[in-house]
Amino acid sequence: MGGQSCSRAALVLLLLAGSWQLLAQAAPLSDPAVEARVTALMSQMTLEEKIGQLNQFSAGQPTGPGTGRTDYGEMVARGQIGSLFNLSGARETNHMQRIALTRSRLKIPVLFGLDIIHGYRTTFPVPIALASSWDLPLIEQTATAAAEEAAKEGVRWAFSPMVDIARDARWGRMTEGAGEDPYLGAAIAAAYVHGYQGERLGASPSSIAACAKHYVGYGAAEGGRDYNTSEIPERLLRQVYLPPFRAAVNAGAATLMSAFNPLNEVPASANRFTLSQILKQEWGFRGFVVSDWTSIKELIAQGIANDGPTAARKALLAGVDMDMESGLFLSALGELVRAGAVPMSAIDDAVRRVLRVKFALGLFDHPYAPDAPAASGLEAGHVELARRAAEESVVLLKNGDASHAPPLPLGSQVHSIALVGPLGDSAINMLGSWIGKGDPADAVTLRAALTAYAAQHHLQLTTEKGVEIIGGSDAGIAAAVESARRSDVVLLAVGENAAEMTGEAASRAHLGLPGLQKRLVESVLEAGKPVVLIVFGGRPLVLTAISDKVSAIVQAWFPGVQAGPALVRLLTGEVNFSGKITVSYPRAVGQEPLYYNQLNTGRPAGNVDLSHPPQNSDEKYVSRYIDERNSPLFPFGYGLSYTKFEYGPPAADHPSISARALNAGTAKLTVEAEVRNIGARDGVEIVELYIGLRGTSVARPVRELKGFRRVALRAGESRRVEFTLGRDELSFWNVDMHDVVEPAQLTVWIAPDSSSGSSVEVKITE
Ligand code: NOJ
Repeated sequence: MGGQSCSRAALVLLLLAGSWQLLAQAAPLSDPAVEARVTALMSQMTLEEKIGQLNQFSAGQPTGPGTGRTDYGEMVARGQIGSLFNLSGARETNHMQRIALTRSRLKIPVLFGLDIIHGYRTTFPVPIALASSWDLPLIEQTATAAAEEAAKEGVRWAFSPMVDIARDARWGRMTEGAGEDPYLGAAIAAAYVHGYQGERLGASPSSIAACAKHYVGYGAAEGGRDYNTSEIPERLLRQVYLPPFRAAVNAGAATLMSAFNPLNEVPASANRFTLSQILKQEWGFRGFVVSDWTSIKELIAQGIANDGPTAARKALLAGVDMDMESGLFLSALGELVRAGAVPMSAIDDAVRRVLRVKFALGLFDHPYAPDAPAASGLEAGHVELARRAAEESVVLLKNGDASHAPPLPLGSQVHSIALVGPLGDSAINMLGSWIGKGDPADAVTLRAALTAYAAQHHLQLTTEKGVEIIGGSDAGIAAAVESARRSDVVLLAVGENAAEMTGEAASRAHLGLPGLQKRLVESVLEAGKPVVLIVFGGRPLVLTAISDKVSAIVQAWFPGVQAGPALVRLLTGEVNFSGKITVSYPRAVGQEPLYYNQLNTGRPAGNVDLSHPPQNSDEKYVSRYIDERNSPLFPFGYGLSYTKFEYGPPAADHPSISARALNAGTAKLTVEAEVRNIGARDGVEIVELYIGLRGTSVARPVRELKGFRRVALRAGESRRVEFTLGRDELSFWNVDMHDVVEPAQLTVWIAPDSSSGSSVEVKITE
């Protein structure tokens, strides 16, 4: 529905509804010119050729339990393949494309996909890290950079963004998403989609299709075990798990991926309610749904199909349009149609969606990757972006306390540094899980960057690995302690192994430092020098036992190719920290799932001192653990910097506001607070707005994020930060399952994190 083809009246209506952005972004998938080309092509297609478009296979390194097969040339020639993935490089994609365009009867181009999760050739910080920047334009730029690099090699489809809400740090795939919050998750989902697809899908040669995944509830896997069951009541689904998908769809996402998990006993890849009713009917999604890797075949193991054809039928009729890797659409759909078990209209709808995306992307007009030889190194602009992204993603969680002077930034008093730990010089682990066409040789480690810095500033630097990340021996600990003893400060680089411990199929029951690393930390602490713990990883680790003993904690995640330079600039204060965590840090694994936007209970532990076991019935009969506090070690939204920000009390422009007017969209509430940089350094503060609603027909979370802003403030500078709350922010799925604003008592916080800050009360009247 481009401007030219949309009727003036419809355009005015859409504008009045405030949907200009939606119109501009979603347009290519509703463009009548695209539809006409799809219709014309479909009129020439046989049933077999139609079914052919609905299959996708991995033609390279498998990213799931493999079929073992990678040569798909003959099947492409027979028109049996709509998409291939895990194939990259212009030569490889062009070779396959040439087969499709010269040997297949209808010459329909193949759509090449890949797991481009945080960069293609240039690896940016992992998504959970990027999310900690809360910087939407930055995230968008990283996706655009990835799209540019991928499109040059013929890859026009990224299996990203992963927008699964993750409330449980045991789940290894937390690293691939934006964390636990649906509001932030939705904003970030849209940023990725805009980044990959550009202003308009297919408008430029580097526009690639995004794929919001894994639809839906995959992150709520029971016990944090990957691929496991999710039980999510409809209200929670709509309130927490669906908003990022909806935001991706509204931003124009061309595709979605259906998840592996059973959702409320119906596998996500055969879930008619979520795929057809919500996604396609309610939201009007016009792109296509690809199943996750063999998830159609897995319907058999999940117990809702006793054979392949039934699995294929259930998946297609539920709303899956393309079969990734199981081959069941290819082998079964023809016979199912001929037997009348699958209506032709269902095949046609799926084919139309696939072809719509291919036409909208411009694949028919520009099917080949440019023939230019692949650049040997990384693009300078992308490297610079990777460094800035890492600087904004790394989070300072602690810098001094009552018993430790703040060791950061490393200043002129530091003459010697001991870099200790298994992650100080591990290039591969700087990149994180899913590295696309990334190359560890491009990664600058902390050791490499510190060596350059130390030479320049005449500092003494010693490096000791101490122990391996996992397993290994303790033989290196003594040398590590010795190097600590001889230095003014210790940078202790510890954490997880990217490939084995984070990402897919990497659930963990223990969230402490792996292997012998805790021993390394404890031993090094005995040297009595200030210790800066630099934690690499894809999830929050349980740092409770050591957090009081170290002088500082830096959450580095897997920061990408520019890990070292970014960290050195942060540690030395050349740039200030600004990131804030988007997941709650557990004190103990037993607290998981752990998230800030929880419901209250009838027995909140509110004013009870939870630092010791209950000593009387008032302390005991509340919702608590007898052996641990309820609160996280570090709350959602938390992060420090080298300066200090002071928040004034928030003020609302109305003491009360009517629910009716809010629902009609004719009233809005403005809330503002003054934020002042009271420290000695310039900085960027992420200002967060939370709401709480009481007296509603269903219980609402104690707090919910409904706004945020990155505010740059020079030392001494202050600014009034203003937020607007309207229907979108104040409505929720009520007891009758209507998404409305109800009369309520509203509390609004403008705060530095989810557990502090002052608030203002507003009455929402009838
Ligand atoms: C399985 C993963 O769950 C999904 O995220 C990925 O995109 C596919 N494999 C393809 O590699």
